[in-house]
Amino acid sequence: MIKRTFNSFGAGGNTMNRIVNSIEAKDIENHFHPYTNPQTLKETGPHVICRGEGVYVYDNSNTKFIEGMSGLWCASLGFNNKDLVEAATKQMEKLPFYHSFAGKVPEVAANLAEKLVGIAPEGLGKVFFCNSGSEANDTAIKVVWYYQNALGRPEKRKIISRKRGYHGVTMVAGSLTGLPYAQDGFGLPLDFVRHTSCPHYFIEKLENESEQNFVDRMLNDLEELILEEGPDTIGAFIAEPVMGAGGVIIPPENYFSKVQVLLKKYDVLFIADEVICGFGRTGNMWGSDTFNLKPDILTCAKALSGAYAPISALLINETIVSEIENQANELGIFGHGFTYSAHPMSAAIALRTLEIYEEKKIVDHVRKMEKSFTERVRSLKKYDFVGDVRAVGLIGAIEFVSEPGSNKKPDPSRKVSAKIQQKIQEAGVILRSLPGDSLAFCPPLIIEESQIHEMFDKIDSVLAGIDFQIL
Ligand SMILES: Cc1ncc(COP(=O)(O)O)c(C=O)c1O
Repeated sequence: MIKRTFNSFGAGGNTMNRIVNSIEAKDIENHFHPYTNPQTLKETGPHVICRGEGVYVYDNSNTKFIEGMSGLWCASLGFNNKDLVEAATKQMEKLPFYHSFAGKVPEVAANLAEKLVGIAPEGLGKVFFCNSGSEANDTAIKVVWYYQNALGRPEKRKIISRKRGYHGVTMVAGSLTGLPYAQDGFGLPLDFVRHTSCPHYFIEKLENESEQNFVDRMLNDLEELILEEGPDTIGAFIAEPVMGAGGVIIPPENYFSKVQVLLKKYDVLFIADEVICGFGRTGNMWGSDTFNLKPDILTCAKALSGAYAPISALLINETIVSEIENQANELGIFGHGFTYSAHPMSAAIALRTLEIYEEKKIVDHVRKMEKSFTERVRSLKKYDFVGDVRAVGLIGAIEFVSEPGSNKKPDPSRKVSAKIQQKIQEAGVILRSLPGDSLAFCPPLIIEESQIHEMFDKIDSVLAGIDFQIL
């Protein structure tokens, strides 16, 4: 008999203790889970999800949940979009595989490249396809290195990322990620990565420090780091427009405009990691539009295919690509690519996804929903133990504090946000607890007004019933 309790990395889901059925037992025996505490998984059993319908998913006891996180910030069109299934089926029947090496290209990949460049931020006129956010970020760093080498400055290869940034888990992306859980036990980060301060004003501010003084201090930290390392050794800076897994941290006013001035001053390339923010999440097509970023390279994934198939992409400034092409001509080849770069089925799904975004006017829809969503997130500030509330577009978070009116973090051993997340899940909403005792909200972009209220009514009633001191 396996007893279900909470698990901060998401396993375990039902309110009741119950005998696990064969699928749960089988899974524990065979499956080594990503991002999961193995011991808790053994005790709780996995939470088996069986089917989806719009913004809802159903588990193997047919319990219905609102997926308030779009899975992993990704299922933008919900969980049973028939058009995407049809696009995949048609492509599988027509050409299930072809590659893009040595001058070949699947027809559908060429069409997707055109479509993506058509919506890319100005100046990012070339696209390179990969299969995951991590691969896209690893590739972005190789692009930076290749470019700096092409310009005759091979030593300009260190990469600055930010504490609490999330960029994935492959060896380079896992090094860029500024969260200990992605590095502990692996001997990461690799030696060319440096992490600068995290612009989370609520937690990182000094006593009586204004937001703008805080921004200047963040900038000072960044400039000091560049100078300490030597500007000639810094190749690029990578940042998410809104930090996702690090706690949904929305940049303070003027932060990015000042960062960009600094990067220009020291000739450091800017990579915007839009793996979460891309395709409407922040109320514009790109997080870069929302925060006025002018990246040299943009990485995207997740909502590129509504998460129905693995595909990611880099959008790259044409000048960078032309330098790389010159160098590749000299070397004979651009020696990078994946068997499944622009896999036809993924490309067909992504192409249809982008068409659906147009047909549904998804960015306008997010803007329409933003008001209710952000109001409902902000209203949770009424609870003493909610210290900070933040939201933009259809992404947000609340952060728990140990003392009302303070920014004091609860003792991590209390696992406050994980416990609250579990209670909310028992009420029918799947959310994600994040480092720093935050709880994230990131529903599918197709969510309707009534469903936003349904989701927050449930969250609100759980929070109202919590005795925080004994939690
Ligand atoms: C901002 C960001 N970058 C990169 C990644 C890594 O993507 P993947 O898990 O597809 O490798 C993620 C995943 O959540 C992400 O949120």
